[in-house]
Amino acid sequence: MMKDFAMHIMDIAQNSVSAGASEITVEIFESERTDLFALTIRDNGKGIPADMIDKVTDPYVTSRTTRKVGLGLPLLKQHANSTGGSLMLDSAEGKGTEVRATFGLSHLDRQPLGDIAGTIVLLAAANPQIRFVYKHSTDTGSYIFDTVEVNQMLEDMSIAEAPVIRFLREMIEENLKEIKISG
Ligand SMILES: Nc1ncnc2c1ncn2[C@@H]1O[C@H](COP(=O)(O)OP(=O)(O)OP(=O)(O)O)[C@@H](O)[C@H]1O
Ligand SMILES: [Mg+2]
Repeated sequence: MMKDFAMHIMDIAQNSVSAGASEITVEIFESERTDLFALTIRDNGKGIPADMIDKVTDPYVTSRTTRKVGLGLPLLKQHANSTGGSLMLDSAEGKGTEVRATFGLSHLDRQPLGDIAGTIVLLAAANPQIRFVYKHSTDTGSYIFDTVEVNQMLEDMSIAEAPVIRFLREMIEENLKEIKISG
């Protein structure tokens, strides 16, 4: 089961939402010069207990009760490893969690980015109480989307209104084109 990056972001950010985070940051750094692609997702949620941290990247560990296997982290790790990269987990109970995965940008097993703009906007619209920050950097430049700034710009409109969702998605896509993100 190969996931594109938008799907990974949805999975990992959903873990942060479940962990009660009030701030979630998604960072992508990609460089053709160094052939690196790095995805970092950071939250201030409840964290992962120390005795669980080594186990969560193994596909049979989950704190879910509805299904026996957790797959978000293992699939991200498998994807990273298949491109010569790795997954790093840093978490402190009561403080938060950082998931960082690196990839070989030009590696044939590196999956496409997918609909990252749509995914970020959907996460923000579905969780209006959470601050989402999305930062994407390339050799050309960087772009930052921050729901605190977006809410100021929107004034009385809600991020969850369909026309607003469409507008924000297009706005992000335009900005990503300008910094020449990879496919
Ligand atoms: N950001 C996080 N904060 C706190 N705990 C986390 C976080 N990310 C993962 N975990 C813990 O690690 C477990 C494994 O996560 P993973 O995403 O791999 O599977 P899952 O969320 O349990 O199931 P799935 O993602 O397949 O629906 C989670 O059940 C949760 O206990
Ligand atoms: Mg999960």
